[in-house]
Amino acid sequence: MRTNIVHPGADSLRYEIRQIVEVAKAIEASGQVIHWENIGDPVAKGETPPLWIREIVAAAASEASSFAYSPTRGLEEARVYIAGERNLEGGIQIGADDILFFNGLGDAISTIYGALHPRARVIGPNPAYPTHSSAEAAHAGSPHLTYRLDPGNGWRPDLADLETQIRANPQIAGIIIINPDNPTGFVYPEETLAAMVEIARRHGLFIISDEIYSNLAFPDSGMRKLAAVVGDVPAIAMRGISKEFPWPGARCGWIEIYNRDADPSFARFARSLLEAKMLEVCATTLPQKVLPRVMGDPRYTPYLAGRVDAYAERARRAAEVLADIPELIVHPAQGAFYMTAVFRSGALQPGQSLAAPTATEAIIRPHLGSALDARFVYHLLAATGVCVVPLSTGFNSDLHGFRFTLLEPDAARFEGLLRQLRDAVMNYLSSAS
Ligand SMILES: Cc1ncc(COP(=O)(O)O)c(C=O)c1O
Repeated sequence: MRTNIVHPGADSLRYEIRQIVEVAKAIEASGQVIHWENIGDPVAKGETPPLWIREIVAAAASEASSFAYSPTRGLEEARVYIAGERNLEGGIQIGADDILFFNGLGDAISTIYGALHPRARVIGPNPAYPTHSSAEAAHAGSPHLTYRLDPGNGWRPDLADLETQIRANPQIAGIIIINPDNPTGFVYPEETLAAMVEIARRHGLFIISDEIYSNLAFPDSGMRKLAAVVGDVPAIAMRGISKEFPWPGARCGWIEIYNRDADPSFARFARSLLEAKMLEVCATTLPQKVLPRVMGDPRYTPYLAGRVDAYAERARRAAEVLADIPELIVHPAQGAFYMTAVFRSGALQPGQSLAAPTATEAIIRPHLGSALDARFVYHLLAATGVCVVPLSTGFNSDLHGFRFTLLEPDAARFEGLLRQLRDAVMNYLSSAS
């Protein structure tokens, strides 16, 4: 090329959660069975959306109007339904025009960070869900700024660290909260959320609250949506159907804009999101059509409750099994369907490995970089076929650990997986030469 066509932020766009799949596929081709614990897709892991939901989708798909474009903001019936539900829960009240549909939250996330002023930064949690952190870093052409979620304190955010970073970086304009959190399964207590809102108010910031797992918070987790505590602070809440129905292949998510008029710059920013969507015309119509019919069905709440109970039980069991390893910090998830295990400082050493067949060992060798948790993850894959995601390279973290899912629906297989994980960690840690 006579001129460089690569965006300065291109190297920030890395999604280890899927990148590890290429290596795992090569291992699978060598005959090893792979246990896919890396991707948060309940359907791919064997959960079948119930027949009644599939029947609603089938009926909507047979209506000619499902083949049409929808209005740019999204179908009126879907937005009215969501706004009505939101307002019934109490907290901030919104109208249908405060909602904007996207082709999944992945689309919303890249649109939001892409629309920010190039010098405005949004600080997010560490560990970080990479779609947020990569898109924010790519927008700024500079590493993502983070505040600590503290594994030594049940994954609570370090609010002193957050405020120090905000003071030190005047270009920070917003705070990202993921609640329930991916990758930790942490649910923010109401007082912590309120304290973060107060920090945003004090420093003139807006909040982005990714609540895609909010209806998958476990009983007794104390889950509160940002809407309950946001008061008059400008904010964007994000929700979707990928994890709830679950229908990740629908590519359907939406944002809810709170206190748009509290700040003229925020109001203009919010309008720019609508304008960006107008250029694309609209999000996919069919899932929006289905949304109020499924969420408004009396079978929906009991259906979600059954799934959540199963995840909560798996989280309890995972914490119990992995508690056998003193070098790991593990907290049971309080929501969503992931858990993260962190290696205590000094537990991982460069010389550690796991006995693996020669063929799979050869496949992982070129991928063994310097990140000690990624080395563990690749050795685990070669030795056992269990595919998890390293914390440092997968979730933009200075912690070493791995994320696994709570999605295996077969109880015996889930138990086997936990034991395999526990034994592999123990063998790996004791293999140091
Ligand atoms: C926290 C979080 N936000 C957003 C997404 C993306 O969701 P969607 O399927 O709506 O693009 C995910 C997917 O795993 C997620 O974990």
